[in-house]
Amino acid sequence: MMGDFDGKVAVVTGGASGAGEATAKIMAGRGAAVVIADVAQDRAAGVVKEITAGGGRAVAVRTDVSDPADAAAMVERAVADFGRLDVLVNCAAALGPDVLGRDTTVVDVDLGVWERSLAVDLFGVMLGCRFAIPHLVAGGGGAIVNVSSVAALRGRWVGPAYAAAKAGVIGLTRNVATTYGQRRVRCNAVAPGLIMSPAATAMLSEADRRIQESHLLLPSRSTPEEVAETVVFLASDAARYVTGQVLVADGGLTSHSPSYADWRRQVAEAEAS
Ligand SMILES: NC(=O)c1ccc[n+]([C@@H]2O[C@H](COP(=O)([O-])OP(=O)(O)OC[C@H]3O[C@@H](n4cnc5c(N)ncnc54)[C@H](O)[C@@H]3O)[C@@H](O)[C@H]2O)c1
Repeated sequence: MMGDFDGKVAVVTGGASGAGEATAKIMAGRGAAVVIADVAQDRAAGVVKEITAGGGRAVAVRTDVSDPADAAAMVERAVADFGRLDVLVNCAAALGPDVLGRDTTVVDVDLGVWERSLAVDLFGVMLGCRFAIPHLVAGGGGAIVNVSSVAALRGRWVGPAYAAAKAGVIGLTRNVATTYGQRRVRCNAVAPGLIMSPAATAMLSEADRRIQESHLLLPSRSTPEEVAETVVFLASDAARYVTGQVLVADGGLTSHSPSYADWRRQVAEAEAS
């Protein structure tokens, strides 16, 4: 069966888990050869195994996206193993308890936590673009999709480093789209709301989850696959006239009046009485 990514080569950072893993699997299933670039070597190898067992093409490259030598090597590996580069998805982010879990307030946050968050979530995205763009241009064009977050679009009471990094990703996305559009490189961002990835499931308190769910317009939280489909759309030729955009994939979390959850609660109370 022909896939719309046949003959294309993609690098997916953070491809060992969550939305990155789902993106790598969907693209591979549609014909792309995929480089899974992640610090989690064992999990990345497991994703490669699943893809190749299903007849797809993939390799894993142990990559810390915040390390310039690693970021250069992940791109070189794509070109060395598969001959070209067409797509870069920057999905890796430091979401563990050691970084996001300690990203408290601007007054209290440990400065090392701030630096690590910015290093992985923003500098890492810049490095990916830096090393990928020359190959995308050499191949006649390509697509970059950077994963931001609704945390860049709305204030939250925690996570200042994460919010700043993800807002930076949006600025960088528009800059790259502007600079390289004439050379047929498209660059877009996806801003997910709450993705029920292993990381988010482990990090989110029950109370926080309930609050977030009460503000969703759609009845359920998103799966990694639902966000990945949005990423893959932007990377695909179906989005060939789309560049410099931020596609919010959040189940309506940020698109309504702030009083929506109160209204829903009132309706539920009225119905129950
Ligand atoms: N989970 C959510 O609720 C949520 C919400 C909004 C945005 N996002 C964004 O979506 C993306 C995917 O989120 P997820 O929850 O699916 O993630 P996840 O934690 O399941 O996967 C992230 C992957 O990035 C890898 N990674 C971490 N640091 C790295 C580094 N320095 N170099 C290379 N790889 C590294 C991890 O090993 C992991 O495999 C992230 O960019 C995240 O910020 C997530």
